[in-house]
Amino acid sequence: MADKITTMYTEEEVNRRIAELGAQITKEYEGRSITMVCILKGAAAFACELAKRIEVPVEMEYMRCSSYGNETESSGVVKIDLDLDRPIRDKNILVVEDIIDTGRTMHYLIDVLKNRGPAEVKLCALLDKPDRRVTDVNIDYTGFVIPDKFIVGYGLDYAQKYRNLPYIGVVEPGTD
Ligand code: IMP
Ligand code: MG
Repeated sequence: MADKITTMYTEEEVNRRIAELGAQITKEYEGRSITMVCILKGAAAFACELAKRIEVPVEMEYMRCSSYGNETESSGVVKIDLDLDRPIRDKNILVVEDIIDTGRTMHYLIDVLKNRGPAEVKLCALLDKPDRRVTDVNIDYTGFVIPDKFIVGYGLDYAQKYRNLPYIGVVEPGTD
């Protein structure tokens, strides 16, 4: 049996919400610029769409990290696989992440970034799964707060599949 994917938010709903976030961020950063730190791979689609909706200057930077753990839960031991290639001293950092689940990855990463002397570090997440949280994380901008389901699409994967879906769905793994 193939994986079953049920739509949770359509492409239109996601894009509308991202436009709202972009407008809010534009207002709150008026007169300043943003250094966006996109967390690969999951946040790539979201970060591109969000950056297009922000009307103050945006620099785009990328990081990739992995966390030891099993397939569906991170352990909190986070490894930076791809680091920023520039200093962030005095920059207004906006970390863009796909989903905050246990919170372990962002808790660690935000600490790492804060230790590099930026002016500030804020966090924007497309999805927030608060039921699963084990570590406190302050999310400054949230797309959607969702129940404890496994999500794919709009950048999010299940075993590296479905990142290219233009909508957000819940996956029920099949047997093939
Ligand atoms: P955390 O450290 O538990 O908050 O891990 C967050 C990371 O786990 C995200 O960046 C995703 O890569 C992954 N993740 C958590 N929940 C989901 C999901 O529902 N679908 C796809 N990836 C997820
Ligand atoms: Mg991720």
